[in-house]
Amino acid sequence: MEARVIRGDLQSVTAEVLIVFHFEGEAKWLDATRAVNEATGGMVERVIASGDFRGEHLEHLLLYVAGGLAAARILLMGLGKREELTLHRLREAAAQALKALRERRLLSAVLPLPEGGELPFSPGDTAEASVLGGLLGLYQFTELRTTEREKIKEFTSLALLTRVESEEVALRVAQAEAVAKGVYVTRELVTLPGNLATPRFLAERARKVALDAGMRYRAIEMAEAERLGMGAFLAVARGSDEPAVMVEMEYRPEGATGSPVVLVGKGITFDSGGISIKPAENMEMMKHDMAGAAAVIGTMQVVAALKLSVPVVALLPCTENLPSGKAYKPGDVFRSLSGQTIEVISTDAEGRVILADALSYAKGFAPQAIIDLATLTGACIVALGNGVSGLMGNHDDLISRVRAAAEQSGERVWPLPLWDSYLELLKSDIADLKNSGGRKAGAITGGLFLKQFVPDGVPWVHLDIAGSAWEEKDQPLVPKGASGVGVHLLIRLLQVWSPLPAF
Ligand code: BES
Ligand code: MN
Ligand code: ZN
Repeated sequence: MEARVIRGDLQSVTAEVLIVFHFEGEAKWLDATRAVNEATGGMVERVIASGDFRGEHLEHLLLYVAGGLAAARILLMGLGKREELTLHRLREAAAQALKALRERRLLSAVLPLPEGGELPFSPGDTAEASVLGGLLGLYQFTELRTTEREKIKEFTSLALLTRVESEEVALRVAQAEAVAKGVYVTRELVTLPGNLATPRFLAERARKVALDAGMRYRAIEMAEAERLGMGAFLAVARGSDEPAVMVEMEYRPEGATGSPVVLVGKGITFDSGGISIKPAENMEMMKHDMAGAAAVIGTMQVVAALKLSVPVVALLPCTENLPSGKAYKPGDVFRSLSGQTIEVISTDAEGRVILADALSYAKGFAPQAIIDLATLTGACIVALGNGVSGLMGNHDDLISRVRAAAEQSGERVWPLPLWDSYLELLKSDIADLKNSGGRKAGAITGGLFLKQFVPDGVPWVHLDIAGSAWEEKDQPLVPKGASGVGVHLLIRLLQVWSPLPAF
């Protein structure tokens, strides 16, 4: 979809569809809705009086215009109760509107932008939410379909109609497009199956994002990982014939010399469980076990596109987790890059093992903060359900900031405690740590394991996205499948980044 801002007049603007909003149960209408009503001889009034449209959140109704407007159709779009409207809900309403039109093969629309205090948001916020919501909702993955391609419907154009020219509105539309493109990159990588999205494929995609934006890129291949001492990362990689790779991307705003925020993403391109093999049922889902890495790649693209003022480094340990004659086994002990030894209890607790080395490796960047994203534990889904990310960390300010960013992006996060008393569950008889603490507090012991590898004195947050990286049902902003969780949140966080207080 292409989004643009046009200036013009509601009555004379030609459009396949004119989208106008309406608040549920409100006598005071939005300007555009009132203007449409007047131009059509009270059509909207009659529709509402008839009870056929109330304006509930996500409710919509398509009307055909008999005259009075140059537009051919009106889509009445409900915004719900005024006091319940948030930018997130507005994004959802925009998404719903465009999806409903696409369903009817109406592939372009004009949206008169509510301006001048009609909504509790600035015109810039309103424009951004409309475009971002539309793009997020419209996403579809079609590249692997070869038959019936003519049935694929692509919404092509959304024009925001304004009365006053505003640089801010144009800028915010461009920002929305940049964020959505980043989410698209992530969703596509997560959707691609394990035979296509291999560790090398992920690395290549990261390289492309980096080089297109003038970022530094480096791939640490297995031989070098070995020399560096990444024994944990390589332990997981042993069972696979696909070469593993630790990807590094570095964004530096012009002239900035400060230390970076480091983003770490779990990049298991397929998690069979390894020797501790998973049940066959739903195992195909485990292609999405690289959603953390994919979210970081998408985020890096947006960071560069928006020219954010904070330096950002991405670290992506990428490998498969497979059983074979060479695979790591329960009972094995490996020496991590940090020097700490890890006893493998379950080869299916592989995410924390590869992340351990990535977190240690981050130390070389003297990070001002580390944020990791990982589809780490089924236990997190048990605790919080789908559509929620588990939030853990070692620094209250950073945790609060992530919560605030999530509030803005509409991605749900919820804190879990990392009390040291849980460490008991990770004690090994023969090594420094076990990689699994069993079923109790599974999401927490996963986070606590990671904490042992975070460089001293570095504020760190862990997002367990096992329950949020994949949507089992269509959502207003997330078509069934890969959600792209993390991208929007991280951008909100990094957009307003300022140095953290020491701890
Ligand atoms: N990738 C899985 C976690 C997962 C499960 C992600 C479902 C998305 C959906 C992870 O590697 C894993 O297998 N974790 C184990 C840990 C356990 C062995 C300590 C789990 O959750 O069962
Ligand atoms: Mn696993
Ligand atoms: Zn996994």
